[in-house]
Amino acid sequence: MALLEIKKYPDPVLKQKAQEITDINGTLQELIDNMVETMYEAPGIGLAANQVGHLKRVIVVDITAGKEKGNLIVLLNPQIVETEGKTDSEEGCLSVPKYTNVIKRAEKVLVRGLDREGKPVEIEAEGLLSRAFQHEIDHLDGVLFIDRLSPIKREFFRKRYKKILKELNR
Ligand code: NI
Repeated sequence: MALLEIKKYPDPVLKQKAQEITDINGTLQELIDNMVETMYEAPGIGLAANQVGHLKRVIVVDITAGKEKGNLIVLLNPQIVETEGKTDSEEGCLSVPKYTNVIKRAEKVLVRGLDREGKPVEIEAEGLLSRAFQHEIDHLDGVLFIDRLSPIKREFFRKRYKKILKELNR
């Protein structure tokens, strides 16, 4: 296993749409293992393949960030098929370091996809897990949480982020 470099905004790969997985092979399993390791090391509660420079529809999620065993979810070709309600909560992203803001999301989601062996799975989620799925599936479509800010908040984000990037690159 290996740690992967997490791409930071404004890396163009984060704006691209990831491709459906059609072939479940050893290369894919290695990518998944490396994504899981990279997420836990960060530490983060979710990671999409775009964030490590692979345009494939793969997400890994663990809302305990590995603190409790048995919470890892790996999904290939995940899709939100139903949503219910709306809720506001603070959100951040490993690709947008040192910045968080309140984002409106669906309260509950029904997600369908494949597990890492290709078996169809369906997961009903609410709370943080629901938010993590929506955030990671957005990544696969080239959408970042900052794209969901109001135009005014996005303007403030741009100014703040310029300073954040300068500090990170120092
Ligand atoms: Ni993210």
